[in-house]
Amino acid sequence: MEVIILKDADEVAEGGARRVCALIRQNRNAVLGLATGTTPVAMYGKLISACRIGEISFSEVTTFNLDEYLGLAPDHPQSYRSFMQRQLFEHIDIDTDNTYLPTCRAGTDPETVCRLYEEQIKSVGGIDMQILGIGSNGHIGFNEPMSSLASRTRVKTLSEHTVADNSRLFEPNEYQPSLAITMGVATIMEARRILLLATGPHKARAVREMIEGSVTSRCPASALQLHQRVTVLLDEAAGSELESQGYYKRAHEQNTELLGASNF
Ligand code: F6R
Repeated sequence: MEVIILKDADEVAEGGARRVCALIRQNRNAVLGLATGTTPVAMYGKLISACRIGEISFSEVTTFNLDEYLGLAPDHPQSYRSFMQRQLFEHIDIDTDNTYLPTCRAGTDPETVCRLYEEQIKSVGGIDMQILGIGSNGHIGFNEPMSSLASRTRVKTLSEHTVADNSRLFEPNEYQPSLAITMGVATIMEARRILLLATGPHKARAVREMIEGSVTSRCPASALQLHQRVTVLLDEAAGSELESQGYYKRAHEQNTELLGASNF
């Protein structure tokens, strides 16, 4: 796991965008795994700018989002489909037909949606780079603590912790779903590369458990220790509880010296 501690959230967004741009420049047909939530929004803003000035094109890119609420229509303003439209898709040159979320439309069997999602990911050859955030309880996607590390795309009950964390995004009397369809931990682990972003002091504990704790379903993100190509971009606050901060900083400096800034 490559752990990179940067000054602030803007540097995290910049570092994330640089890596995604490098991937797309290398492979116009890249398959990207995407996340919602607050963390990747600034990075999406930088990708939008890069696309506008012609630095990259999403015209041949395919995307798969990690998760979607169950019980919200795709055009509901709080659905993750709407979120992605607002934060990224409607500002770039992507073909919306190539943007996938595990959406369960009314009258559709959720298990069929989950099975199909796994098949769709396989049919395009798998995910080249999966973008992740991390929940303050250590979840990735909506794989809450105690999720099987062998899990595949499925329906998950959100933890009280997550419902409370996400309540900030809903109006006080608005219906907030407590079920979602999420890629499983094993689905995420099949991505060829993983890029996890975390910012803010409220992520510091989960980040420490993910990187320096034991591999355990209590912190689903800790499964990433078993993946061969994970880059974690942190701001100072999110990295503040790591014991080996000095080591990660030195290793990053040396890697940059050896491999150059072009390394992504
Ligand atoms: C989002 C997702 C979640 C978030 C996590 C962090 O699609 O799957 O795992 O990445 O809850 O959310 P923020 O970025 O809002 O702190």
